[in-house]
Amino acid sequence: SPRHITNEYTKLFKKEDVKDWELLNQEIKYFSENPETVPLIINGKEILNRETKKIINPSNIKQNLGDYCQANEQDVQDAIKASLEAKKIWANMPFADRSAIFLKASELISTKYRYKMLAATMLGQGKNVFQGEIDCIGELIDFFRFNVKYASELYRSQPIESTTGVWNRTEYRPLEGFVYAVTPFNFTAIAGGLIGAPALMGNTVVWKPSDSSILSNYLLYKILKEAGMPDGVINFVPGNPVKISEIVLNDKNFSALHFTGSTKVFSSIWTKIAENVGKGIYRDFPRIVGETGGKNFHLIDKTANLENAVFNTIRGAFEFQGQKCSATSRVYVSESIYDQFKELLVKTADSIQPTNCSENLQGFMGPVIHEASFDKVTNAIKSIENDNELTLLSGGKFDKSEGYFIKPTIVETSNIDHSFMKTEFFGPLLTVFKYKDSEIDNILEKIDKSTGYALTGSIFSTDRVNIRKYEEKLRYSAGNFYINDKSTGAVVGQQSFGGSRLSGTNDKAGSAALITRFVSVRSVKENF
Ligand code: ALA
Repeated sequence: SPRHITNEYTKLFKKEDVKDWELLNQEIKYFSENPETVPLIINGKEILNRETKKIINPSNIKQNLGDYCQANEQDVQDAIKASLEAKKIWANMPFADRSAIFLKASELISTKYRYKMLAATMLGQGKNVFQGEIDCIGELIDFFRFNVKYASELYRSQPIESTTGVWNRTEYRPLEGFVYAVTPFNFTAIAGGLIGAPALMGNTVVWKPSDSSILSNYLLYKILKEAGMPDGVINFVPGNPVKISEIVLNDKNFSALHFTGSTKVFSSIWTKIAENVGKGIYRDFPRIVGETGGKNFHLIDKTANLENAVFNTIRGAFEFQGQKCSATSRVYVSESIYDQFKELLVKTADSIQPTNCSENLQGFMGPVIHEASFDKVTNAIKSIENDNELTLLSGGKFDKSEGYFIKPTIVETSNIDHSFMKTEFFGPLLTVFKYKDSEIDNILEKIDKSTGYALTGSIFSTDRVNIRKYEEKLRYSAGNFYINDKSTGAVVGQQSFGGSRLSGTNDKAGSAALITRFVSVRSVKENF
């Protein structure tokens, strides 16, 4: 049965024993000493003679981790062709055989490639070992294994009503064309989920990985191949996202988008798809599945357990460098406990120093992913000084001489409608606001309405009546709603993940519902 290991990581700041440090260090050393050129992979063939870009280690920007090839227009066309060709066999392969590949890949990831995958994710995406374990081991294999479980249940589900002389059945057909997967840098697991869910259901995929997760994503491709994935089922085409999307979205066989990234890019792709539907370019109305931005809240009322609220706010805001779509980034705290909350929060944040976690394996947080992200967050930090509605409480320091390091930064605002309470920075920048208990109804209204996003959010309270009230008033404010827990860290098989409004289509990663987006059901009635 499916296993998940994500719960293994539960203790903050504790020097845990990590097994086989030696093996991990060897893999880190290997990548550092053997920079390679990552190819495009189309129909299983590695293509190397293309323009390249450097693979950057965000913790050590001078390090040479190699480079990666950029797909040109013909490559994208070839990837589409390869996916359609491969589909002829893949879509008709028994589900048991398709499942076996994902189950085998899961075993390979958690055994033979565990340390290599960790090293690739830590070096390429700036993670520490615990973040790596959660992401590229735990959640990645959770997605693969749970999808197999969900799919096997789906395929078994058939209409019960078959009357005398009639046999009704439901056929879960793969979509007719190909699936376009656009995957983000922040989770190797998400990349696996975005390519894996459609492929498991018999679809073939054109995969545009993020430029900032090439090492781990290429390794993931190779592991799937070793597990038996036939050529052409997944085609790996890094490159210019705008150009690649233009070609893919103009293809008549485009059947679905599986996307994680910004709200802005998702909206522009959606618009393009809508235009093309209008022009009659496609055979189908394409399926559009996307998870986008968030401005995730913590509401901490006067009855909250203070230490729990602080502990979870620190974790929600600063683990993973704040680079989770679910990261906590706006906090509303009752005036009754504000001063104590602030003191403990600031003291804890002050003690965190971002570091190169591939060298300092026990570091709590690493750098942000690249210069653009560094600039976005640090420009916001620089603006604090001249803004009389903002007060810097902690952090505010940054340095990119070695890597893109930003100290966890906490800002207090006197204006509940300040842009810091609405803008997604996607980095370690948290804004807190003190509210008057008498104004709780207005606060709930602001939490709900002020950002347009609805991804994750948490309430901290020990009063059952309050909890019910918040849960009801914030019914549509978050697709993942937590009570006395942080806004991050959904576990596959426990809390499926996703949000609505500007945060996406809420098709829920890690759920039985998601995989149904990648099948086109045929209802068959046979009289006999
Ligand atoms: N699924 C991840 C979380 O819940 C992003 O934090």
